[in-house]
Amino acid sequence: MDRILEPELMDGEEQARAYSEADFTEPHNMFVEEFRRIFPKREVSCTVLDLGCGPADVTVRFARAFPHCQIDAVEGAQAMLKFARQRVEKEKMTDRIRLIHEVLPSNHQLQDNYGIIISNSLLHHLADPATLWDTVTDKCAAGGTVFIMDLMRPVSKDRAKALVDCYAAEEPHILREDFYHSMLAAHRPEEVEKQLGSAGIEWMKVKAITDRHLIAYGSRPVCT
Ligand SMILES: C[S@@+](CC[C@H](N)C(=O)[O-])C[C@H]1O[C@@H](n2cnc3c(N)ncnc32)[C@H](O)[C@@H]1O
Repeated sequence: MDRILEPELMDGEEQARAYSEADFTEPHNMFVEEFRRIFPKREVSCTVLDLGCGPADVTVRFARAFPHCQIDAVEGAQAMLKFARQRVEKEKMTDRIRLIHEVLPSNHQLQDNYGIIISNSLLHHLADPATLWDTVTDKCAAGGTVFIMDLMRPVSKDRAKALVDCYAAEEPHILREDFYHSMLAAHRPEEVEKQLGSAGIEWMKVKAITDRHLIAYGSRPVCT
């Protein structure tokens, strides 16, 4: 089954609200745990770049897990940023998390060299995946760490429907639809490997970690 694109930005009010209010405890904690598992010795006291932060749920969990970092969190949809602002204020993290409105590949408000770049579930939204990999190339410092997690495209629409029934049976209709379309828009691990090769990012690896998630991760060599 080929990839079926979905709109890049989640800028509908209803869609953004449903996404922001959904309980993503399990996958978003898994994001933080996987980061720790893969980079157990990585000191996280730098400024972290979070690409496509949405309502900042992953951003806040990451900031809680690593209390010495600052986070620049980038999001292109104002509807999502509204919920991100509310969450960051409620969590009293306005001094640690800078929310940035920017539609990638535009990146004027970002710093040049981030020690850590993270992103959850942005890749499948991008019509051109090179947008993510070019941003990584531009913005990751030498010796910096990159950790990306995303959905993985199933082999068929029937399999995508089965995964929705398995993992989102009790969710509102709008979220089930989102999940289904996101899976159809997602990439296969071998496609991400190819994208990394084309972008010249040989230092990142790709791995399937569940029946619906993949990760791409690595540390940029100091001399490239
Ligand atoms: C599925 S959400 C994931 C949000 C968050 N990372 C999370 O895991 O909860 C993807 C987010 O990426 C944003 N996005 C998509 N394309 C973008 C772009 N070109 N620049 C900035 N943000 C983008 C969408 O608006 C949406 O909020």
